Amino acid sequence: MRSFLFVPADSAKKLDKAMTSGADALIIDLEDSVAIEGKAKARDSAAAFLNSTAKAPQRPYMIVRVNGLQTGMTNADLDAIASANPDAIMLPKAEGGASVMHADAKLAVREAINGLPDGYIKILPIATETAASLFLAGTFAGSSARLLGLTWGAEDLSAELGAQANRDAQGRFLDPYRLARALCLVGASAAQVPAIDTVYVDFRDSDGFRRECEEALRDGFTGKMAIHPAQVPIINEVFTPSAEAIARAKAVVDAFAANPGAGVVNIGGVMFDQPHLTRARRLLDQAKVGQS
Ligand code: COA
Ligand code: MG
Repeated sequence: MRSFLFVPADSAKKLDKAMTSGADALIIDLEDSVAIEGKAKARDSAAAFLNSTAKAPQRPYMIVRVNGLQTGMTNADLDAIASANPDAIMLPKAEGGASVMHADAKLAVREAINGLPDGYIKILPIATETAASLFLAGTFAGSSARLLGLTWGAEDLSAELGAQANRDAQGRFLDPYRLARALCLVGASAAQVPAIDTVYVDFRDSDGFRRECEEALRDGFTGKMAIHPAQVPIINEVFTPSAEAIARAKAVVDAFAANPGAGVVNIGGVMFDQPHLTRARRLLDQAKVGQS
């Protein structure tokens, strides 16, 4: 999955619009985009939306962002949505593998109550929203078979750090957030799950957004979150491997296949060894995902 579009759960209009946005996944938000007084109504609206779209042809993957474990609201969120079979929950303000295990246990209970198979609902943590979480980014491996990937956030982290900004005048992330981004990437890799890049809130700036998508792809992220439908086609385009990239990767895989036992091959005067083969296979895997 490449594109993950946030939609406030209390907006019927945006939920409806999101269905035709082209996003691979929707993140139906019960957390920061919904005011405290609106939580109960938003939960009902999220469940109704999941039920009404369950059978829609080629529907997006449905993720519900619940309120974090620290808030005391997670149980009510899960009680409201588990019977509507979301594909996954997003766990904000996660602090390492322990919080994934905690959420896993909560989900297991709701799956049993609702007759869903154990492990049906996956978990996508936001791994860098608290200062403490940065020191735990390496602890997600083996936490739960539900782990869908890792993503990261700079807004809550900057609030927690007392920072005045998280980007410089050119729109590039400042050091603490570059650290969070890198920890998400390596933490995901260590846990052998995809890393999904964070949101870009200046949604009218499509050039800056495209640049951030390209940098994320370059560094190893497999997708990016969007807050506005206009960002979705850019994500899908950037994270879908181009025909040239697929052809290059095929050439590497074919060269190794033609030279069984070789650790290194020469393609057009350039050396390719095992890391290049790994990268080529990964790209071909991603190309397959993009087609589905
Ligand atoms: N999902 C679905 N539809 C959306 C959308 C979203 N995330 N964001 C905007 N739209 C719709 C609008 O409703 C509008 O529909 P219309 O043309 O039928 O009126 C259209 O897209 C154009 O929107 P626009 O006028 O450009 O922006 P806006 O002022 O309506 O909305 C935001 C701006 C930021 C409030 C909105 O994009 C949003 O709610 N984003 C998600 C916020 C969120 O979930 N945050 C938490 C994660 S960080
Ligand atoms: Mg937040």
